[in-house]
Amino acid sequence: MGDARCPVEAVPEALQAAREAGLWPVKAALFHDLDGLRGRISALQAAFPDDTLHAVAIKANPVIEVLRTIVATGAGLEAASWEEVQCAVAAGCPADRIVFDSPAKTDDELRQSLALGVWINADNDQELERLQALGAPGNARVGLRVNPQLGEGSIAMTSTVGRKSKFGVPLQRAPELLKRFPFLSGLHVHTGSQGVGLALLEQAALAVAEVVEAHGLEWIDIGGGIPVRYRDDAPMPPTFAAWAKAVASIPSHIKVLTEVGRSVHAPTGWALSEVVCTKQIDGRETLVIHLGADLLLRRVYRAEQWDHEFVLLNPDGTPKQGPERPSQIAGPLCFSGDLLALDRPLPGAEPGDLLMIRDTGAYTLSMWSRHCSRGLPPSIGYERDGARLLHAGEQPEQVVDFWSL
Ligand SMILES: Cc1ncc(COP(=O)(O)O)c(C=O)c1O
Repeated sequence: MGDARCPVEAVPEALQAAREAGLWPVKAALFHDLDGLRGRISALQAAFPDDTLHAVAIKANPVIEVLRTIVATGAGLEAASWEEVQCAVAAGCPADRIVFDSPAKTDDELRQSLALGVWINADNDQELERLQALGAPGNARVGLRVNPQLGEGSIAMTSTVGRKSKFGVPLQRAPELLKRFPFLSGLHVHTGSQGVGLALLEQAALAVAEVVEAHGLEWIDIGGGIPVRYRDDAPMPPTFAAWAKAVASIPSHIKVLTEVGRSVHAPTGWALSEVVCTKQIDGRETLVIHLGADLLLRRVYRAEQWDHEFVLLNPDGTPKQGPERPSQIAGPLCFSGDLLALDRPLPGAEPGDLLMIRDTGAYTLSMWSRHCSRGLPPSIGYERDGARLLHAGEQPEQVVDFWSL
């Protein structure tokens, strides 16, 4: 199960379920296939030894109802901020399944994390000194983030084991720090997010596992980073089983933690917007929708690295047919560059049609931008039993609240 992209054929049924639940129509929404999400997590769990802790990265999708769905599978949650630790707690995640990573933790956050009993991955010497001063007990689940400095993947901005990465300490410094801070019980490495292949993920995990074993540590956190494909013509991404096999030489007495986000979430979500208007701009067919750089920040600013597929649908969710012409897809924000696509072949669009953006389950709503103050779109979950609201989104008065004193 390396790939599980939401089929376009599933849209009419999901829309019907949303309509029956009173959640559709709205001008734009995010849809989440909750059974698909459970399926991705169970494929991950089946691939690794039973005692592996899979802490799903909250930053990929922090909607609490989504986190609850993850926690109910037995998986844990990885928090990139103290606020995300609070989200994990609010979703009912037991402390021993919460992993707190961040290069910028305050003393107060560290104190509370120690009291709560979550896993803590320290980022640097100074954080270790502060943990020591706070009296990190020998049995605390405290690890150190290390960087084996093996090189970058194809996207520099989301690569984290290159020489210039801001995260952690070079792996070669681990022996010295393990000696100085005997409360450390594990090491953490995260290779990158998208753009990193199985070979780099494997090399990074195994280089760190060697040090874990040599120093008699109890656990290794091998991070996330399993890529997904955003287009049907992109190469198939590695399966969770292939990843587990690649790191299977980690000795079985060492507990493994993982922190995947994108690969469980992205393929199980999609976004839908009504087409607001169409126009010809410089001879190009242009359709304007309700979602733009506010939802797909990376797509708009780094289009060559972050792709998505766009499908034009009829109002009932079936694919629109007709001769295709190169079309430009424009978002609603007040700058000319708010374009999701420049030259996509699409059948002629009309106001009231729907535009589907595929694979939006990860790093979309969580990266929402406030430019132009448009309200968050609602998140709708669907599963065998029907559809339900996961997040209501925002009405204008809530946006005013957000900006108010
Ligand atoms: C420390 C850490 N762990 C896990 C992840 C999740 O990565 P992905 O969503 O690519 O699996 C990230 C993403 O940036 C991260 O920074």
